[in-house]
Amino acid sequence: MNILLTGGLGYIGSHTAVELLDAGFDVVVVDNLSNSDIKVKDKIEKITNKKIKFYEYDLRDLEKLKLVFNENKIDAVIHFAGLKAVGESVEKPLEYYENNLFSTINLIKVMKEYGVKNLVFSSSATVYGRAKSMPIYEDFPTSATNPYGRTKLFIEEILKDFELANPEFNIALLRYFNPVGAHKSGLLGEDPKGIPNNLMPYIARVSVGKLKELSIFGNDYNTKDGTGVRDYIHVVDLAQGHLAALRKLEQNPGLVIYNLGTGVGYSVLDMVNAYNKCCGGKVKYKFAPRRPGDIDVCYASPEKAYKELGWKATHSLEDMCESTYNFQKNNQ
Ligand code: NAD
Ligand code: UFG
Repeated sequence: MNILLTGGLGYIGSHTAVELLDAGFDVVVVDNLSNSDIKVKDKIEKITNKKIKFYEYDLRDLEKLKLVFNENKIDAVIHFAGLKAVGESVEKPLEYYENNLFSTINLIKVMKEYGVKNLVFSSSATVYGRAKSMPIYEDFPTSATNPYGRTKLFIEEILKDFELANPEFNIALLRYFNPVGAHKSGLLGEDPKGIPNNLMPYIARVSVGKLKELSIFGNDYNTKDGTGVRDYIHVVDLAQGHLAALRKLEQNPGLVIYNLGTGVGYSVLDMVNAYNKCCGGKVKYKFAPRRPGDIDVCYASPEKAYKELGWKATHSLEDMCESTYNFQKNNQ
């Protein structure tokens, strides 16, 4: 089976490429390298000892995208490509709408033209907005609080309409919670350009002295220690969730929605303390005001994915921290 990964050299896409290749799939990647590096291709090939086919194309270029489908018999698509920084999306909303929405519309147009009918889409827990209770189930109402979140919400709606009009399509909307961690080889991980916005990459840079200290945004939330609680999931578990979703699509289910999380919430202080155990206490921190737009608690019910996909996360918090530190040390 030949799987097309859009954005396949990015953080989650590269880990998924490894899992797919290890499981015997062939992988074609389209990525414009706007937030990734061509060196990731070699690293994926080194880890798996297999080749991938790579196209440095932008999904907004419809003709180029058709070339990919012309040259390869694609069996299914996993659509990771997109811009993902919440703060940047507030400053540049049109770039986010243009990139994320146009890319997706082009992709499903070409899939329809070439008769490729199975699609997995990278959605996000952000589509739950401020959920009324925890854990979050897939049938909770959706909303968005920023342009990035709205692109995810709009794409979900577009894909629902598209599937209604084209019932031969099978689409999995995977709502990721907080992906962290890195491949055990130390070759693949999250390496954001500039100063990281997200917690784990920030902690990782503090642990190797690239940043001075972590600011913990808020210690007066309604949580056990006052700091924000999230459902952190190891990126390799997340990658394996995509393989499970692909198998599900083989059964012609139409459109399906799954949370990919662990069901366990950790606070910022839990994360810092666990990470400090791995790195020998190098992460210093101070408390700072709440970050605008943040919620106090967010964690998934992963039950539906377990029942229907037979998938659940297996990596521990220690795995998440150790692999992150290992990757950070290897990639200075
Ligand atoms: P990433 O930025 O590492 O990977 C995305 C890849 O898409 C990059 O390699 C980038 O170069 C590529 N890309 C962007 N626009 C493109 C375009 N127009 N044409 C071709 N390639 C393009 O991000 P990631 O963390 O791997 O996230 C993958 C997906 O998962 C994204 O859609 C993201 O919104 C979603 N997601 C991520 C998180 C997270 O915390 N990492 C959480 C929830 C959902
Ligand atoms: N945090 C800090 N200091 C930092 C960075 C983060 O204290 O320097 C705290 C936040 O306040 C929050 C927690 O760490 O309590 C996690 O923050 P992240 O920025 O790592 O993650 P978020 O839960 O805010 O958001 C992430 C992605 C979104 C996605 C969401 C749900 O950035 O795109 O998960 O999947 F929508």
